[in-house]
Amino acid sequence: MEIFKSVQGLKQVLDSARNKGLAVGFVPTMGALHPGHLSLVSVASRENDIVVVSIFVNPNQFNDPNDLRNYPRDLDEDVRLLTSLPCNYIFAPEVDEIYPEPDTRKFDFGSLETVMEGRFRPGHFNGVAQVVSRLFDIVEPDSAYFGRKDFQQLSIIKNMVKLLNLPVKIVACDTIREADGLAMSSRNALLTPEHRAAAPGIYSALKDATDESAFLPTDKVKQHVIEKINSTGLLKVQYFDIVDEMTLQSVTNWAQKGVKVGCIAVFAGSVRLIDNIFFDK
Ligand code: PAJ
Repeated sequence: MEIFKSVQGLKQVLDSARNKGLAVGFVPTMGALHPGHLSLVSVASRENDIVVVSIFVNPNQFNDPNDLRNYPRDLDEDVRLLTSLPCNYIFAPEVDEIYPEPDTRKFDFGSLETVMEGRFRPGHFNGVAQVVSRLFDIVEPDSAYFGRKDFQQLSIIKNMVKLLNLPVKIVACDTIREADGLAMSSRNALLTPEHRAAAPGIYSALKDATDESAFLPTDKVKQHVIEKINSTGLLKVQYFDIVDEMTLQSVTNWAQKGVKVGCIAVFAGSVRLIDNIFFDK
């Protein structure tokens, strides 16, 4: 495994791999790696000859300066974790390497970006699209791997690939959870012991929602999820919505066509957690 800080160094080895006809799989991350990230690396290695993992805390996608400041960073530990996996190259650039000039591009994702995360984190998805398109430009992967945990991000990235007509296949990977159901996230490390103990309540309310969807209307199911989570006193729901998988717009009736996804953001103290669940109806 080799670590690159420069675009030039990475491009050189990847050009030579591509010239040999090797397939390149790419896993973009912001580091503080956990088994959720590592599962993407495993899927990428099964489907490609070469795996590249990027580790870059992208300032452009943080709408809250405190969140950016507190975001966990531990490159040595990340490298240690990746050493035991089929990862060929780590790309861990500094900010200037990714943005030699300020990135002023404005993407238009229409109604995909005005709901849920987009509504509560203005500019977030524009920053995600800036960095992911820049990383795609550098790595030129055949396939790139993203978690369903960040469901709206996945949808935005698929849309971006279409908009920019990029020759990369986007692969969605399942959410990896702790034994108690909490979706793994780099931000979990920031939880106090009290909030960590309460946080599995998020997934348990989402699972109850899938049960209730058999006999309750969407508005009741939504109301119950919010009430259950808020009743802990330690967790506070920012939003919970049941949306169409493709359009991300609210579903108000189970009889509507299409796959439905329950998407949630919750404050556990000052730490903001997101999760989602698919309704199989
Ligand atoms: P980050 O939060 O580090 O996540 C990197 C990738 O890991 C994303 O595709 C995310 O969906 C996936 N992931 C995170 N937790 C997961 C879990 N519990 N199970 C499965 N996959 C999980 O998402 C980002 O970074 C950034 O926005 C990025 C795409 C790198 C652009 O900066």
